[in-house]
Amino acid sequence: MSTVIEDLVARKVFNNRGEETIEIDIVTASGFGRASAPAGRSRGKAEVAYYPNGGVDQALKKVEEVVAPEIVGMNADFQEEIDRTLHEVDGSKDLRVIGGNTAFAISLANAEAAANSTGSLLFQYLGGHVACELPYPLGNVISGGQHTHGKSPDFQEFLVLPCGAQTFAEAATANIQVHCRVAESLKKKDKLFGGGKSDEGAWVANVTDSEALEILSKACEEVSDELSFECRMGVDVAASSLWNGKGKAYVYERQRKKRNAGEQLDSVLELIKKYHLAYVEDPFYEDDFDSFAELTQKAKDCLICGDDLFTTNCERLARGIKAKAANAIIIKVNQIGTLTDALETVELARRNGYAPVVAHRSGDTCDWHIAHLAVAFKCPAIKTGIVEGTRTAKINELIRIEEFLGERATMADLRTP
Ligand code: PGA
Ligand code: ZN
Repeated sequence: MSTVIEDLVARKVFNNRGEETIEIDIVTASGFGRASAPAGRSRGKAEVAYYPNGGVDQALKKVEEVVAPEIVGMNADFQEEIDRTLHEVDGSKDLRVIGGNTAFAISLANAEAAANSTGSLLFQYLGGHVACELPYPLGNVISGGQHTHGKSPDFQEFLVLPCGAQTFAEAATANIQVHCRVAESLKKKDKLFGGGKSDEGAWVANVTDSEALEILSKACEEVSDELSFECRMGVDVAASSLWNGKGKAYVYERQRKKRNAGEQLDSVLELIKKYHLAYVEDPFYEDDFDSFAELTQKAKDCLICGDDLFTTNCERLARGIKAKAANAIIIKVNQIGTLTDALETVELARRNGYAPVVAHRSGDTCDWHIAHLAVAFKCPAIKTGIVEGTRTAKINELIRIEEFLGERATMADLRTP
């Protein structure tokens, strides 16, 4: 059994939007790992650069000329060393020389190859034998904001969280049922609704934020009653995309309304109370740590989560911890580059009572590694879609992990820290 890297192959593949992306194979003497990179559409401004100038083609060239010669011959078992080498070869702070997505795919493929070489599954390799908690699937049901065109809600995502489920399979079933019921209501509300879906497989319809919330709330109630466990709601406001810095206001085009920071705070708090929201992501734009802190202090029994706010970045999270800005953080490895970078952020989050929520990107592939990361990192929730193919790849992998763990499998602890 050897984990020495014998070969590293890079290729261009496509994501679910038809965009070019990078895929990496890593071959060791006794194993193999493959990973492909996702892509965000509503990116935080502090994210690393995805590709060098010249896009994926230039990234492939860089891999062949400067990355592979360094990595081949190293030991896949030494993840930190591999990830440090990627940063050293790149030399820039935002990974713009080799590309953040190049680093991401090599880092993940390497972890997979190391696990495979030692006969472990990735979640066990990273999380050890104590990793047996399944995350709750936080599923996108209705899309809006930058994930849609034309008339749709201003908020980016309307989510379901099946809090009362006893197993992952049960939780995934609940989300599918909610998704299904919501379509029936949308048909009634929007006569032109033709079953269109966003990249994440959430419905796209001509409804307002409040109509979307009402429809989702009704579906959650009905499915909760039928399955005899609670399904709650969440939203990703993605408020950076609503924020107008010059006017110092959140501009809700669909609602034809502007809200200053104080009004935004009041309206989000009202929604948390009215709909008993379990989860609110990015309710303010990405540099407003103070408003985040005020909301986190006032909201009860609700995960207040930073995505664009933190961009999986340790320094930004440290700033948030100091300001008491949130109680949860989205973890997207390709926002920061490598697995080691993300792990550092997860550990900082854990030590400070922040719930880590591993998430997909709107542009994604059938890569299922985030399923393993969510279990290894003991995430209370995994944010992914409910029905679209690249989302189902992750959900089905979690079903396999649950089966593999058998009696040892439990659901994670969702209580607000
Ligand atoms: P993105 O958005 O993947 O398009 O960046 C997802 C999110 O904001 O959570
Ligand atoms: Zn987000």
